[in-house]
Amino acid sequence: MPLMGGIALISYLIGSIPFGMLISQLGGMGDIRKIGSGNIGATNVLRTGNKKLAALTLLCDMGKGTFAVACGYIFGLANLNPAISIAAICVVLGHCFPIWLGFKGGKGVATGLGAALALTPISGALCCAIWLLGAKLSKISSMGALSAFIAWPLLVMIESQFDLKAPLLFPSLIISLLVIWRHHANIQRLMDGTEPRIGDKKEQSS
Ligand code: G3P
Repeated sequence: MPLMGGIALISYLIGSIPFGMLISQLGGMGDIRKIGSGNIGATNVLRTGNKKLAALTLLCDMGKGTFAVACGYIFGLANLNPAISIAAICVVLGHCFPIWLGFKGGKGVATGLGAALALTPISGALCCAIWLLGAKLSKISSMGALSAFIAWPLLVMIESQFDLKAPLLFPSLIISLLVIWRHHANIQRLMDGTEPRIGDKKEQSS
């Protein structure tokens, strides 16, 4: 149990690193929380107009998801599935509720995708493809994210041949529910038809 607690804490702290904020500030764009949607993710960094900083944020946020699950693989030893599941859930929780930003963080998309890739490589890769395709076709980032995280647990279920006790179904469900819940303001805007398209630079904060 102390081992699982340690994996949870380390993953949470890794997830808490607000790359979007650090990269925007170091890149001279100021506080990303005062721009666009106020989110600390790559989509909002893109609203500064700096594609390189947005790509770097995406890579770093995905990387921390993959890295935390990799730590789960390395230190999980005999309890591999619980260890990597806890690592995946906690790294996304860290991104959404970072200790360094008063627990006000992002929506967990890139970090969740990075964790999904490491946790369930086939379903995770398909989830990333759905995210890209959804965003490209709709030209709305949140649409891609919502499609991907609705699909991920379903893909894990298909991959496990509908075994509802498949060990990695639980983390995929929890992370997907968390990401979808973090998009509640986006969902409202999608329903109102006011969700901004990729490339738009200004909209309300939430
Ligand atoms: O990655 C988060 C994305 O799905 C929505 O971001 O800034 O449009 O709320 P944003």
